[in-house]
Amino acid sequence: MSLRLLSVTSELHPLIKTGGLADVAGALPLALAGHGVEVRSLLPAYPQVQRALARIRLRPVHSYKTLFGGPARVLAAQHQGHDLLLLDSPALFGTRDGGLYGDLAGHDWADNWRRFAALAAVAADIAAGALKGWAADVVHAHDWQAALTAAYVRHGRRPDLPVVVTIHNLAFQGRFDAAIFPELGLPPSAFALDGVEYYGGVGFLKAGLQYADAVTTVSPSYADEIRTPDAGMGLDGLLRARGDAVLGIVNGIDTREWDPMADPALAAPFSHRALGGRSSNRRALEKRFGLKPGRGPIFAVISRLTWQKGIDLIVDAIGHLVGLGGRLVVLGSGDGAMENALLGAASRHPGAIGVVTGYDEPLAHLIQAGADAILIPSRFEPCGLTQLYGLRYGTIPVAARTGGLADTIIDANDAALNAGCATGLLHQPGSGDALRHAIARAVHLHAAPDLWQAIRRQGMRADWGWERSSARYAALYTDLVAQAATR
Ligand code: ADP
Ligand code: GLC
Repeated sequence: MSLRLLSVTSELHPLIKTGGLADVAGALPLALAGHGVEVRSLLPAYPQVQRALARIRLRPVHSYKTLFGGPARVLAAQHQGHDLLLLDSPALFGTRDGGLYGDLAGHDWADNWRRFAALAAVAADIAAGALKGWAADVVHAHDWQAALTAAYVRHGRRPDLPVVVTIHNLAFQGRFDAAIFPELGLPPSAFALDGVEYYGGVGFLKAGLQYADAVTTVSPSYADEIRTPDAGMGLDGLLRARGDAVLGIVNGIDTREWDPMADPALAAPFSHRALGGRSSNRRALEKRFGLKPGRGPIFAVISRLTWQKGIDLIVDAIGHLVGLGGRLVVLGSGDGAMENALLGAASRHPGAIGVVTGYDEPLAHLIQAGADAILIPSRFEPCGLTQLYGLRYGTIPVAARTGGLADTIIDANDAALNAGCATGLLHQPGSGDALRHAIARAVHLHAAPDLWQAIRRQGMRADWGWERSSARYAALYTDLVAQAATR
């Protein structure tokens, strides 16, 4: 018999995305189908989502006269094999002048607590059987935006329903003032150390970690790191206390969408057996970014431009990179000062540095197909997906040895080169010197084409599809359902 899972998320590729969470929430449910898990995904019906689904029939399947202050509906839809449930609440998720989580100036929406408490409350309702003919056997909530689901389940009609909470990034916790608590509709007893209370306020992610039957994060190394005060961001004590309930399962990638043999965004197809098409993509990339042809490697950055991602370290390393004969293409958006610093570097080094600010999915694919190395000097990285896309497309990752980067890249040290298993270059996180040294190592390796091609092919052969990790999630759900049955 198949297991019914409700996946709760604030983003889902290809409908709405600010980062890797969307890729995971979009791809994992489809991979789970192969393991007998029947998934429905609940997400807000943002205007972008409604537009993306304009040609698809949206069936109203549930309604609320008032949900956190306004009327709301749940709409069901099928999109590319994915069963979707959309929370349509104009007051909470209607048109706004800004992004998913905040305004154009970068301030969080003041009603974020209400928006994502509503998502969580509706998730618990649906899981418990609010829709005709469907109830969940297990619930999977992603990040702080969905984490309060665990609290609503525990204090709702089916308190024994197993809940998994996944941490994609501990830096975002959903912390709010205690004054919101009475409006959440949870019993007064929930405002406690073993409930939603967090440093005197309300913590959505904290509540999830507390109430969930299992807490996963997106790589084994990050699961270790967040148990320590250095990386635990205030939650390491709770994570240690949860013991074996916390585990790391590395992300996969959608290998159909990221397939260098069949990618419509590329200038030419290629594979690890036939790398010839890569040169057309390299030329297309040079043209798109106004780079002068050259012998040295093209480094790439595809990223949110933030401190987490170490973009400031890249800015500081640009002179060094260009001095060694390297070139650099950057696609990203985020911190205004970082954007300006990168644009400034591009104007100081015409033909060697190209920067495109903004969000451009097809361009991200072309970069992975045409660049030589992708720079990911993150200060911390729960998993990271751009190194996995790089591996698959033959753009060798040069990355910080942290979190999921450390778990998915084999450094080209002497041992790995001797064993023929190197797939990238790793360096000490948070250090400009270490990044500059890694860039120099990459330039040096690139000058030995046989070695470079061998590392590239080894990376391309590695299988980062969802098969293994989706099997682990399926096994986890099955265990939790079995445990719940014995309670
Ligand atoms: P995070 O979720 O922390 O931002 P990940 O590496 O897990 O980092 O995921 C980032 C995702 O967003 C990848 O799919 C990457 O290709 C994509 N991405 C990041 N910035 C851009 C951009 N400016 N344009 C297109 N895609 C981007
Ligand atoms: C977060 C993390 C990133 C991870 C992604 C998907 O955004 O920053 O490392 O790959 O979630 O799990």
